[in-house]
Amino acid sequence: MEASVNTGRVRIKSSLYSHWVDRPIRPISLRQLFFFGRTLTESRLLSSANYVRMELPTRIAHRLREMQRLPYVVVTNPHLSTVYELYYKAFETFRRTPVIRTVKENEDFCKVISENLREHLAVIPNLVMGVLECQDLVPPDAMDKFVQAMLRARISRRVIAEQHLALTDTFNSPWHVEQPSAEDEFVGEVLLRCNAKDIIERVGKFTQDICKSLAGPDAIVPEIKIQGHVNATFPYVLSHLEYITGELLRNSIQAVMAKYNNPRQPPPPIEVLICEAPQQVVIRISDQGGGVPREIAPFLWSFNKGPRSAERLQKFRDVPTLAATMQEVRQPAGNKPSGKHRDSSLSTLASRPPDLRLGMGLPMSRVYAEYWAGGLELHSLEGYGVDAFLQISKIGNQNEQLTSRASIDA
Ligand code: COI
Repeated sequence: MEASVNTGRVRIKSSLYSHWVDRPIRPISLRQLFFFGRTLTESRLLSSANYVRMELPTRIAHRLREMQRLPYVVVTNPHLSTVYELYYKAFETFRRTPVIRTVKENEDFCKVISENLREHLAVIPNLVMGVLECQDLVPPDAMDKFVQAMLRARISRRVIAEQHLALTDTFNSPWHVEQPSAEDEFVGEVLLRCNAKDIIERVGKFTQDICKSLAGPDAIVPEIKIQGHVNATFPYVLSHLEYITGELLRNSIQAVMAKYNNPRQPPPPIEVLICEAPQQVVIRISDQGGGVPREIAPFLWSFNKGPRSAERLQKFRDVPTLAATMQEVRQPAGNKPSGKHRDSSLSTLASRPPDLRLGMGLPMSRVYAEYWAGGLELHSLEGYGVDAFLQISKIGNQNEQLTSRASIDA
């Protein structure tokens, strides 16, 4: 008799996807993404399309299997089963897609990818609402590991899908040349020479403006001082770095503004130190915002625990879709400038209500940092302030990290 899996609303035949579950994932590095797309011929574009066509159902099948391993009462939670259904539908779509042989077939495939990227903006709010609602049903650490793995896998799928869409945009662009000049900075979503100082300055200014607009015209936002190896550059997905630094700077700015709210006295600055070593760049962001409150400290990295879970659950109920990085709020193909003329995705940051604090910025930032073999640590000096350490692997030759550091170490 054929085995089947019952997840509540979705019942599937396991033979349909066992082939995909058994298929190993083919991980990529930033360098591979970069160099593959650098000389963009039609045959390379088509092989990128076929890589995505095979990788997406494989990676989704692995997640479906993980969801099936959850206790029945958890996977039947309405939010988690919404996530399951989205994944299952996407799995069915991609596994049925025939080999892509022409540029026209690739155009159609890109429409399918874009449609899925849009539909899957519902994943994060549903995932987090689901785990918040189920927090008493599964040991909290197990639930956090589950969410982290889901988010890492989601980043990975979106990276390969977005990269392929970006390469297709570049291929179709009137400025496209097969041999790009050394000045072309972007290949797809990857920025070859991310300059930490420039990004912190830009994200900092943007975050200061948001915090000021929330606090009112009399509020004074702390200055951001940057020192150290200000010329350090490394390859990175710009929107990932913007997300992480935006969350860290926002935490710091808001903590300082809450502690120093006297309009006549300027608050102490946020100090950013950039430190470049042969293999890595470390960015330390230090504030004097009073440190992490004692009752929150143990739950800082958790998606599903903490004193404010009920409040967070309520906030998520008001957010039907949520873009984690702002790259996710993608402009339609063809509207996006390509190559060195591309802007950062910062302008689209505004698409999220600025006061929407969902309590997942830090754990999510760590997932992003670890994804490209980096890390994120926080040291809180209670009563004084916080030092956040963002470590970035500088060479870009490390594969995407699909398992957490904790589970590698274990
Ligand atoms: C996701 O956003 O969760 C995805 O899996 C997107 C992918 C289907 C293109």
